[in-house]
Amino acid sequence: MKAIKLSGPALGALFSSIGGEASLDQILARFYQKMSTDVLLGFFFDGCDVLAIARMQKSFLMRAWGVSQSYAGKSPADAHAKLPPILKGHFDRRLVLLAETLREFKVGENEIALWVSFEEKFRAAVEHS
Ligand code: HEM
Repeated sequence: MKAIKLSGPALGALFSSIGGEASLDQILARFYQKMSTDVLLGFFFDGCDVLAIARMQKSFLMRAWGVSQSYAGKSPADAHAKLPPILKGHFDRRLVLLAETLREFKVGENEIALWVSFEEKFRAAVEHS
């Protein structure tokens, strides 16, 4: 598979500007709670330990943003292989909920745009084709 090119230092700065790991924990707990109770996305998370997924996501993000060296989980492509197909509307909805969550935490619009564009890079790996 083609490597996904990430935009290095800006993502490390994003991590600092949101308040580091403690804030990321809170943001992801809220984001995954929103997705798991959402009318469009909730069913993907039926029977899942949502907080455990949020923790894996944190570890994944910190590795991808260049903040930590290790991530022991699956790649985004493998992580979703056994789920119902993730369609364009599902992916778009995730990004809406992400932006909503970040606004709740008073994250600035530039940082939100950067985080959303980071997630966009995984669309092809995660979306059903
Ligand atoms: C609408 C879009 C998405 C949905 C509905 C979704 C849903 C899920 C669900 C239900 C799981 C748990 C799977 C399991 O335990 O078997 C999961 C795991 C995961 N997802 Fe997503 N996801 C989406 C998008 C993304 C994106 C864009 C990324 C990365 C940027 C991502 C990264 C991950 C990671 C890292 C894991 C954990 C892998 C592991 O446990 O080893 N997901 N996702």
